Amino acid sequence: MKVANTHYRSIWHDADADEVRIIDQRWLPHEFRVVSLRSRADFVTAIRDMWVRGAPLIGATAAYAIAREMERDPSDANLSSAREDLHATRPTAINLRWALDRMRAELLPLPEAERAAAAFRKAAEICDDDVETNRMIGVHGLTLIRDIAARKPVGQPVRVLTHCNAGWLATVDWGTATSPIYHAHEAGIPVHVFVDETRPRNQGALLTAWEMAGHGIPHDLIVDNAGGHLMQRGEVDLCIVGTDRTTATGDVCNKIGTYLKALAAADNGVPFYVALPSSTIDWTVSDGLAEIPIEERAGREVTHVQGKLPDGTTGEVQISPDATGARNPAFDVTPARLVSGLVTERGVCEASAAGLAGLFPERGAA
Ligand code: MRU
Repeated sequence: MKVANTHYRSIWHDADADEVRIIDQRWLPHEFRVVSLRSRADFVTAIRDMWVRGAPLIGATAAYAIAREMERDPSDANLSSAREDLHATRPTAINLRWALDRMRAELLPLPEAERAAAAFRKAAEICDDDVETNRMIGVHGLTLIRDIAARKPVGQPVRVLTHCNAGWLATVDWGTATSPIYHAHEAGIPVHVFVDETRPRNQGALLTAWEMAGHGIPHDLIVDNAGGHLMQRGEVDLCIVGTDRTTATGDVCNKIGTYLKALAAADNGVPFYVALPSSTIDWTVSDGLAEIPIEERAGREVTHVQGKLPDGTTGEVQISPDATGARNPAFDVTPARLVSGLVTERGVCEASAAGLAGLFPERGAA
């Protein structure tokens, strides 16, 4: 996607400078900073402390981390210890394990002298595949928006509610939940996006709103508590969210608060779709509530809020009493029964084992 007329991906290998670069998302939307990641510690910090975030981007970043590590020491022992350190950074997004497994499968059979070059090729392939996958999610998701538009008076926008940031910043490009929105906008279908602020880290307010504004897509920021009210009043036509891990049976783990939106959508007959690349499906898990590890992050993310200060710099303020502690579960699980459908790179399916097996017969049979 473009930032001030320059096309960016959220991560890239600048081959001329031989640098792996990311957009440091901690400073958006008020400051646009690009940084290079070099050491293993750089990559671990960037994922754990959310300089990069979003399930597909976490996977892509881990892939480049392995590539850098293979340059330094291409041994099996280093591959294994780098994998362990990276895997420990964020427990919920399954794309991390998926990318690390792909890198290991590619590299282990190779002689050590060939591993670094092969690792950079594989990391680039993971990134390119992610871009194409998300483009296809947009192509399939567009049909949902087109169908709703066809039932509305001409010119009235399709009103889409989204939660967290499942936009291009959460992937390598396009985003998952946002890809159908971009495709609809480009097809001339009027859309209006309700952006959940997504406490505590405000990925909606900081990142999704910035993406929508940058692309000229009409949108309103809403507090997390407003979605149910808007749905009751018939002001939301469709919810589309992303996911960090979806089970083989269609349970969806996503940013905390997604479950409440799904409940409100079900109560009000609003279609609730989840957009995901197949790399986000954990085929080994069938009960999302029981089996998916939920990341608990620091309470400080709840007791403090970051934003633009009057002097224009980005800073943090405390919002709760000194003596108040906080719980900060970062994700929740929406049971498949509350999900209208899954939008994948291969098409839209029911959120169920049968639905997923229909689109991915090679995995469904496993
Ligand atoms: O904690 P984050 O910001 O990494 O969480 C991101 C989300 O929950 C996204 O909705 C999810 O990763 C889907 S991204 C395409």
